[in-house]
Amino acid sequence: MTQSDLKARGAGNAVLERHAGLRIDGARMIEELELLGEIGADPAGGVTRLGLSAQENAARDFLRDRCGAAGLHVETDPAGNLFARRPGPPRAPGPVLLVGSHMDTVVQGGRLDGAYGVIAALEVLRVLHEHRVDLPVEMVVVAFANEEGALIQAPFWGSRALCGSLENPLDATDRAGRPVSAYLTESGGTPERLADAVWPPGSVAAFLELHIEQGPSLERHGVPVGVVEGIVGRTILDIDVTGEAQHAGTTPMPDRRDALVAAAEIVLATRRIAAEDGVCTTATTGYLTATPNVTNTVPGEVRLSAEVRDTDPVRLARGEAVLREQCARVAAASGCRIGVRAAMRSRPVSTAPPLRGVIREAADLLGLKHRTMPSGAGHDAQIVAQLAPIGMIFVPSSRGVSHAPGEDTLPGDLVNGANVLLHTVLGAQAELGRPGGHGSPSG
Ligand code: GLV
Ligand code: MN
Ligand code: MN
Repeated sequence: MTQSDLKARGAGNAVLERHAGLRIDGARMIEELELLGEIGADPAGGVTRLGLSAQENAARDFLRDRCGAAGLHVETDPAGNLFARRPGPPRAPGPVLLVGSHMDTVVQGGRLDGAYGVIAALEVLRVLHEHRVDLPVEMVVVAFANEEGALIQAPFWGSRALCGSLENPLDATDRAGRPVSAYLTESGGTPERLADAVWPPGSVAAFLELHIEQGPSLERHGVPVGVVEGIVGRTILDIDVTGEAQHAGTTPMPDRRDALVAAAEIVLATRRIAAEDGVCTTATTGYLTATPNVTNTVPGEVRLSAEVRDTDPVRLARGEAVLREQCARVAAASGCRIGVRAAMRSRPVSTAPPLRGVIREAADLLGLKHRTMPSGAGHDAQIVAQLAPIGMIFVPSSRGVSHAPGEDTLPGDLVNGANVLLHTVLGAQAELGRPGGHGSPSG
């Protein structure tokens, strides 16, 4: 769509029309993504930059430097979230357009999950600053801390802190029991002032997150832009299986209470819930440790984490209920004691239809095909949906690989996505300025 097409359509969006020719600096953004990808580069492959670890801290330092060099003003909040905005007083008092994602990864994850959305948001703000484009609704970049929860088991830590929805935050620990407060202090956060990280209702006009798809759909369809319509909800269950450690050679088979065999039944039952019974969309066991983990001892204890996901809250709840039933069945059959605890629940949410429309218009302006789709991965956006309308843009993931070293996206797709984000920020201005025009918070 050209500038005159926009006018002809009566879009009436002065900001978008005036800056229809503006583009991000693709080479600069790609270089920054590569530099950021070196922080936490794992000798075993991929990137291990766990939330609230020294590596995530180094990523924040990197972002701070880049923002400083661009003349942007940077702040970190007590939860470890980093914000960048243009210098000077806010252009207008009132809610801001928050744009960003996270910089932490899973163990041996990729260099784009989260990082792309943060670096692209920085690039958009920098281009607007360089071109002195004044937005009626101020844009603020955010890098949320610890979205993955891979080290400290509190996924969406930063976005929950911003929305005031962290539950008993200081109880969170790593798997060895080291408290979050220790990590947070090392990360420049302030555990005792977490309440100050909360943004009040009305402070966010909308939240935009650009992300890699992390699945195969866009690549398979040959479409460069995904317009996300909804994000799955997810429930993580921590499951402790207690049997009895015994000699592997002398304990008769009928006398055993083998915790690993019981855990294996749970792993298979988890898979069945989604793959065969279709109770919910996905069900996965991703974490498991056996104790004492010795070849010639019957395993006495196993800890595992299983999760279920769905975009429908009823199916999500049913997935959890069936998983709990399966644990009870395995406990009865195996003689093991099985404890089940919900470690995290996130709700499925919808993105705001008016923002979907703005994203489509931005893609049209750039001549890019787009496709409306759900997100099977969780995102900070689904937490911020408690506070404001959300919009999400996806770009293709090569072979659909993510949360693994092979995660990749073609540079051209990364640049396209960031340009869509730029024009969504511009296009959203009219939407956000219109009374009631941004729709109501979803989810
Ligand atoms: C977040 O990365 C998720 O697991 O979906
Ligand atoms: Mn992830
Ligand atoms: Mn992510």
